[in-house]
Amino acid sequence: MLSISNVSAGYGSFRALFGVSLEVKAGESVAVIGPNGAGKTTLLRAISKLIDLTGGEVTMEGRSLRQVAPHKVIATGIAHVPENRRLFPRLTVEENLKMGSFPVSSRTRFPEKRKFVFDLFPRLEERRNQLAGTLSGGEQQMCAIGRALMSGPKLLLLDEPSAGLAPVVVQSIMQMVKRICAEGYTVLIVEQNIRQVLKVVDRAYLLETGRIKSSGTAAELLASAEIRKAYLGI
Ligand SMILES: Nc1ncnc2c1ncn2[C@@H]1O[C@H](COP(=O)(O)OP(=O)(O)O)[C@@H](O)[C@H]1O
Ligand SMILES: [Mg+2]
Repeated sequence: MLSISNVSAGYGSFRALFGVSLEVKAGESVAVIGPNGAGKTTLLRAISKLIDLTGGEVTMEGRSLRQVAPHKVIATGIAHVPENRRLFPRLTVEENLKMGSFPVSSRTRFPEKRKFVFDLFPRLEERRNQLAGTLSGGEQQMCAIGRALMSGPKLLLLDEPSAGLAPVVVQSIMQMVKRICAEGYTVLIVEQNIRQVLKVVDRAYLLETGRIKSSGTAAELLASAEIRKAYLGI
């Protein structure tokens, strides 16, 4: 579904990604794991065209995104849940969801999408009239994911959904990721919380200082001596 080949990108003269290649097939959940500063957020920004590539190519369902305007990326079926959620804090949960259904094609299907999101996250339905800024961290993450789902995407990009959440909340967010995949969405998730994310995805890539260092199934990476020693402390 998504193919990233030899992508380089950065900020001004600073290079954050060096020839990154990876593949996400339809129906798969794939993680990009790596430490703080590895380039995970930059990779998602490059896919969404929030920053320009300096080399390489991203294709979605066989179509290059090179000529796609940044605001049209969503129309290709890619929804991005950014770092730190970026909700509209002074709008209610329901209003935030409505903002997510902005693309014309999904606006008409608002009631159906809304029902899907509320079935997935019953807590959001209970809190639908609450201002998003007053939700707990875990609820805000649900609202951000819910808002992204309102555009009716095929591929969901998740940037560190577990950041800043208590361990028990992290577990429930990861279970939701699993559930979203089970519902037929394709997911690319970037995470520093390697142990938890490898429990729910199919495959993963390890990104270090802007380069893919290894890849494999979640089970292979969990068993890898390199990853156990450097990131899992065992
Ligand atoms: N807006 C920016 N301007 C300049 N450098 C940035 C910017 N955002 C990130 N960087 C740098 O790019 C590198 C990768 O950052 P990032 O993609 O945010 O990593 P991660 O998400 O894995 O923590 C880091 O060295 C970071 O300091
Ligand atoms: Mg990041």
